[in-house]
Parts: sequence; structure tokens; C-alpha cells
Amino acid sequence: MKADLIVGLQWGDEGKGKIVDFLAKEYDFVCRFGGGHNAGHTIVVDNKKYALHLVPSGILNEKAINIVGNGVVLSPKDFIKELEQFDNVKGRIYISDKAHLLLPYHAKIDQAKERLKGDKAIGTTGKGIGPAYGDKITRVGHRVGELLHPKKLTKDIMEYFKIQKPIFDALQIEAPNEKELLEELTFYKEKLQDYITDTTLLVWEALESSKKVLVEGAQGTMLDIDHGTYPYVTSSTTISAGACSGLGIAPQKIGKVIGIAKAYCTRVGNGPFPSEDFGEDGEYLRKMGHEFGTTTGRPRRCGWFDAVAMRHAIKLNGVDRVALMKLDVLDGLKRVKVCVGYEFEGKTIDYVPYTLEGVKPIYQEFQGWDGSKGVREFEKLPKEAKEYIQNLEELIGAKIGIISTSPNREDTIFRT
Ligand code: IMP
Repeated sequence: MKADLIVGLQWGDEGKGKIVDFLAKEYDFVCRFGGGHNAGHTIVVDNKKYALHLVPSGILNEKAINIVGNGVVLSPKDFIKELEQFDNVKGRIYISDKAHLLLPYHAKIDQAKERLKGDKAIGTTGKGIGPAYGDKITRVGHRVGELLHPKKLTKDIMEYFKIQKPIFDALQIEAPNEKELLEELTFYKEKLQDYITDTTLLVWEALESSKKVLVEGAQGTMLDIDHGTYPYVTSSTTISAGACSGLGIAPQKIGKVIGIAKAYCTRVGNGPFPSEDFGEDGEYLRKMGHEFGTTTGRPRRCGWFDAVAMRHAIKLNGVDRVALMKLDVLDGLKRVKVCVGYEFEGKTIDYVPYTLEGVKPIYQEFQGWDGSKGVREFEKLPKEAKEYIQNLEELIGAKIGIISTSPNREDTIFRT
């Protein structure tokens, strides 16, 4: 059996939660491969709201086993808090012993560095994601498996602070108190030891015994550390290739790739966003789409669907089918724009260059519509909405197989 994959194709917040939520019911395993508690979505089941940041969406399906893969950076404090929303999840969630620990000092470093950068700040979530991945890559990080030996881990972390003292002094970050650190790590061990294991073996076994495995991406393609709008990106691999390294799955074990995109575009944090709309339409999209961050509450920057960035994302991820979310948010607009090309350094281009700084969008305009909200069959969509979708398919070179017309699970169109 091969693992199916869901990835975000824009700058995150594409509405992956809704798709993962209803697909999760069909899978035996739901796995996260990257990112940390910078991600977030809310799922409503039987009128009860659940906020998920690190825990995979399969937790709401009692039959599914959930995996937090080695590519994730895990904040034990936030993970423990998140688990408190659920009754008994022992045996239903496992954390890779190779995932990296994100500890409170990582958030302090993140926030201090952002402050020092002034107007060059990335606009991070402030959760410590960059510093935790930085420690991993520079080989001074600590892994979840080390939590099982809190005394040794405490000593190692105190040593880390000693070696990096000049840097921490400059950032005005104090070393933890050794006794308090040991207490904190011991508490994490007690709470988490039953969940820590070699998840790579679990995933291999699942695939070999024909279990259905769903891999859930976090953030979006344009935030990918290599292929996104660097340096205004997150610190992990967000594209489908990250699923291989972040879980330990070989490339030929990846099955269907479903790419999630909104019918328009948003981004939180700083960095270039060629199709951003600074006028009334951008404001309309923010209001109608409730575009405020789940993790930080920040208003999202809003703009038009960027077909150039989408083609790039579809190629990078090997997308089989696109799920187009929030079509109904465009209801009521007279004209709908799509970015179909860029002006870059005096030339017109149809690909994503190494930087999007200074890039100007070239738009194609479409007739707007009203009344797509809640529609469940493609044929019943307003004529202009159908034309918009068919034009998008041509522009991006991929089939739009799922269309979402409201936050409700049932208001979803499936096309063959
Ligand atoms: P970090 O991941 O907190 O380091 O933030 C880096 C960039 O990624 C910032 O622009 C964040 O706003 C953005 N980002 C991180 N996680 C998400 C997400 O889940 N959705 C949307 N943007 C995100």
C-alpha cells in the first residue's frame, strides 16, 4: 500500500483541516511530517471545537493511529496541553523519538531575533520554530527520545547554554535554572513516555500490512525553506518531498498527492505576495473569508489566486488533484482577478523566479457571481463560477477534483 498525501499549495491556511478531517475517517493512520505548533486548525465535531496544532487530525477518528513524525519540532508543553482536549488517546498517538524538541528558550530566541531584525522581521509565529530547526541543522538540538533520560538531558542543555553563552547574552536570554529544568523535563517524561517510539517502524509496518496511511502536510508550498519566498518562509520542508524525510517513507511509497488551494490567496507574516490586494477587494476577502490566523489571531493579507505560483506548487509536489477551498468567499464580487504572469526585472515571465521581491502581477479578469455558497453539485454552481474553475484548471494544468463551498463538511463538490 502507498501513503496518500495532503499538502498546502499557497502560503498556508488553505483549509487543509476540512479536507483532512473528512478524509481522516477513511484512513488507519494519519501522520504529520513537519513543522510544529506554528500550524493550526480548528475542527468542529458534534458541536465541540478542537484546536489542533501538533496532533494529527486523525485523533477525531477513534479507529485511526496518529503519528507525529521525526520531521516535526515538538514543544512538549504545548503538545501536553493539546492532548488534554481528548479523553483517552493512549495507543492512538505516537511521537517519533527522532523528532526534535522545541523548548521554551527556542520561543524566546525566536522573539528576540525578530525584535532585533526590526523592519526586516520575518513575521514568524514567535513559537520558536526557526531556532528549534536551527539547532537541529547545526547539530546542537535535542530529540524527543532524550526526554526518557531527563537527568542527562538537563546536563546536556546546561552545557549547550554554557557553550553558547555569548550569543544568549547578546539576545538577553538567561540560562534555565538547573533544578527547575530537571523538574520540567521529568514532568514531560511522565506525561509523554507512553507515546514516544520509533514511528518509522510503525509507518513501515502499516504500509507493509496494507493499512491506509494519510500524510498531512503543514503550512504551504510558498513557505517551504527551499522553494518558498526565502527568507520569508518557515524553517521546514513543507512540500511532498518532506513527507519522505519527515516520516522515513521511500518516494515510491507515496501514492496520491492532493494539493489544497484557496479560490483566492492569503498570507500571514511578512514577505512578497505579488497578487496581494490592498484595496476594497482585499478587505472584502478578509471579511468574508474570516481571514485571521488560528495560531496568532493576526489578520491575514489577502489577494487574488496566483496561477503562476500555483503551477510551480503543482510541479514541486506532484499534485494529482487540487482541492479548491472557500469558493463561496468570492460570491458577490463584480470581477474576479487571477494572476497569470509576472513582470520581473523588465521581463514578462510565467514561472517563479528565485525571489518574488519587486515582482508585479499580470492579471486576467473574470466575471463575478453570486450564490455558490452551500452548493454541492458542480452543475448547480453559477455559470460564472464554473467558468472561473474551468479557466483555473487550464491556467494551472491540473484537475480541480474537490470544491468547497462553505465550512460545513457536506458543502463539498467532488468531481471525477
Ligand atoms: P515560523 O514558522 O513561526 O518561523 O514563521 C515563518 C513564516 O511562516 C511566517 O510568515 C508565518 O506567518 C508563516 N507560518 C508559519 N506557520 C504557518 C501556518 O500554519 N499558516 C500560515 N503561515 C504560517
